[in-house]
Amino acid sequence: MRRHRVAYLPGDGIGPEVCDVARRVVDAAGERFGFVVTWDEQRIGGEAIDAHGNPLPAATLDACRSADAVLLGAVGGPKWDDPSASVRPEDALLGLRSELELFANLRPVRAHDALADASPLRPEIRAGADILILRELTGGLYFGRPQGRSTEDGVERVVDTLAYTRPEIERIVELGFELAEERRGHLTSVDKANVLASSRLWREVVNELAPRHPAVSVEHALVDATAYLILAQPAHYDVIVTENLFGDILSDEAAAIAGSLGLMASASLGTRSTDAGRFGLYEPVHGSAPSIAGQGIANPLATVASTAMLLRWSLGETDAADAVDAAVDAAIEDGPRTGDLGGPDGSEAVAGFLLGRIGAAMEIPA
Ligand code: IPM
Ligand code: MG
Repeated sequence: MRRHRVAYLPGDGIGPEVCDVARRVVDAAGERFGFVVTWDEQRIGGEAIDAHGNPLPAATLDACRSADAVLLGAVGGPKWDDPSASVRPEDALLGLRSELELFANLRPVRAHDALADASPLRPEIRAGADILILRELTGGLYFGRPQGRSTEDGVERVVDTLAYTRPEIERIVELGFELAEERRGHLTSVDKANVLASSRLWREVVNELAPRHPAVSVEHALVDATAYLILAQPAHYDVIVTENLFGDILSDEAAAIAGSLGLMASASLGTRSTDAGRFGLYEPVHGSAPSIAGQGIANPLATVASTAMLLRWSLGETDAADAVDAAVDAAIEDGPRTGDLGGPDGSEAVAGFLLGRIGAAMEIPA
């Protein structure tokens, strides 16, 4: 029996509800495919501020360090939104990213035909879109220093710094090429090279690495044009690799292609190797959605789809990952629909459907 250890950080808002469904799905897949996951539950975000005065307690970070992967729900909510507060739930996300060196954020977006009505895009525009946004996650404006506020000669001043080192750019761009090789062989590198020095180095690195990946066709694109084209011709894209803030913005925008933020899964991969793959943190993109928390109506599919990536990338459980992906696809095709997709169903109906699919797979001899 294979054993894996996953740090389990449900967090705030709808985090606990969607994580609970995802955990049950993984446990069911484990029974089917012969592995056991030990879930090490820890506090994070607002609930950790309430309990310990710290959104990312040392015990939480330790649990992540000794695990093969991390499953995270969401952090934040109105209770902790005071702009003058000295600690904020979101600090935990940035802390995890830098402490665990989670430099590569994968956000897949697909246009399922069954969700044509949920997307604001016309069906013929979104048809066939299948994009992997690869966002650099530990550099750029999020972490550059100096950062902050000061007053000089009575005038208030603020500064943020967009900084990258060449190795930081190389490792994310290299991964972009590798992912494109495994997919349809097209890489779009998104930058703002007509204005930013960081983007000019980024372009240089892409051009230097390209000859090592002859099977990949590369294009450079400016971020403002891409913000338009990703909605005007989404089917054009395969892998998009870009810096931290550009990726943050484009990935939320791209959720409109799928039809709901409630479907957007993510993987944040680190540098450390696990027994069967690469250490990473997996979370839905949607956040804590406080207005619907505790009502049992949240869509758990983004979290479940995130655990499929967890199984694949960090635990090396490829068959289980395929089964979970297939169950999520089936749920999207003809399963229960939660409110974000215009349906009347609750999270538990979705859970029942997914568990039924994994269980049905169980009856077919492996
Ligand atoms: C995301 C979120 C975070 C980010 C926030 C909550 C800090 O928007 O994961 O995309 O900006 O990275
Ligand atoms: Mg974001």
